[in-house]
Amino acid sequence: MACGHFLADGNEAAFTVDASRITFGHGCAAEAGPRARALGAKRVALFTDARVHETPVFKAVRDSLERAGVDAVVYSTVRVEPTDASFTDAIAFAKETRADTYVSVGGGSVIDTCKAANLYATHPADLLDYVNAPVGLGRKVPAKLAPHVACPTTSGTGSEVTGIAVFDYLALGAKTGIASPHLRPTEALVDPEATLTLPSEVVASSGFDVLSHALESFTARTFTDRAAPTGDAPRPMSQGANPWSDLGCREALRLLGKYFERAVLDPNDAAARERTMWAATLAGIAFGNAGVHAPHAMAYSVAGLVKEFVPSGYSQDEPMVPHGMSVIVNAPSVFRTTARFSPERHMEAAAWLGADTRGAGPGDAGEILADRLVDLMAKLGMPNGIGGVGYGEADVAALVKGAAAQTRLLSNAPYVIGDAALAELFRGAFQYWA
Ligand SMILES: NC(=O)c1ccc[n+]([C@@H]2O[C@H](COP(=O)([O-])OP(=O)(O)OC[C@H]3O[C@@H](n4cnc5c(N)ncnc54)[C@H](O)[C@@H]3O)[C@@H](O)[C@H]2O)c1
Ligand SMILES: [Zn+2]
Repeated sequence: MACGHFLADGNEAAFTVDASRITFGHGCAAEAGPRARALGAKRVALFTDARVHETPVFKAVRDSLERAGVDAVVYSTVRVEPTDASFTDAIAFAKETRADTYVSVGGGSVIDTCKAANLYATHPADLLDYVNAPVGLGRKVPAKLAPHVACPTTSGTGSEVTGIAVFDYLALGAKTGIASPHLRPTEALVDPEATLTLPSEVVASSGFDVLSHALESFTARTFTDRAAPTGDAPRPMSQGANPWSDLGCREALRLLGKYFERAVLDPNDAAARERTMWAATLAGIAFGNAGVHAPHAMAYSVAGLVKEFVPSGYSQDEPMVPHGMSVIVNAPSVFRTTARFSPERHMEAAAWLGADTRGAGPGDAGEILADRLVDLMAKLGMPNGIGGVGYGEADVAALVKGAAAQTRLLSNAPYVIGDAALAELFRGAFQYWA
């Protein structure tokens, strides 16, 4: 299916759709016990963080495992925004526990930590072995992991359906990750009730992550722009925009345009929180098959080089830039620049998000989308660009260095982004409003 795209010789002509088995709806977290049992669980390593440990959804999962007669050993000290050190601690726990099945209850931080623990307990190796090159060795994950039932509690990352685990590599001052289809959880139990205890700040930040997953996958290079894999090499997970990811992106953007502000501003608006959770799931499946690009590549250094910024609403009171925030501060600058490659997609996205596109021409698409994003950022308490989290001209070289290492993401952008282009994108993200 060429989808209207010219097929160049040697380029890709097909795409693959992968996702975890997904159950979505109120109360489904309480299905964790029977699901784990059906996967053969006798002894489960149950991952969460200190705050989620106290929530009703964690209790529902633990009670369900108990009712199913599954022995659960709890690891409740997952670090919010994990690091190589916190991954290493979780891996040691997993090796000691000798679980046959993994269950995670939490946001992306918990689910990613559980993926890493499962990986290194199942296929032991040095931490950097499986980490994406050039930061790590990029060794292939050799085979399947133990079953993993993921129960997301933020309307955010989509980690429950992706084969990615992200951490902050402290020595480098940048985030990096591990990417393999084997990391994708076996089952995702997406229970919107979990989001009712989320602080508004987390709904905002993780919702902007979702928004950017959808926008980046929708505006990535298309799958037909990539060279076809040679021999029996598998397709990369970052395949580029394709008809399947487009479906999820469009619906996620439509839902966010309608419900995102309500979900943040009114904690009692359960319908808006449920729709935002569904948008997160859809965008997760979309970007898990299409891949994100520049805003995420840049986010990895915005988060990794943090100096003094401490966000409100998060359980750790040390400096950090929450993932969604570290992404969205770059987004208006990037989309102003990428609009020339697919103005109609940028315009369509702006319209789904509620921008007034009447009378606008293709040359206006970047500005219209960027303005709508800036408007939402200001309304929903995001920092005013990367300046708002403490960066200025003196930091550009370091920011570029960290982002340039994210070759898996940058190669998914609609144009070649070298160091000079990255510097321009960071400069365009310093400040968005007076
Ligand atoms: N694997 C992937 O595909 C992928 C994609 C995007 C981001 N990520 C990673 O995921 C992490 C961010 O995850 P996140 O945005 O989901 O947030 P998070 O897991 O970092 O949690 C954010 C905060 O919300 C709290 N929290 C979570 N659920 C709660 C609930 N139901 N009630 C009350 N408090 C709750 C946590 O304790 C924490 O303080 C980052 O490390 C990011 O890099 C991974
Ligand atoms: Zn993200």
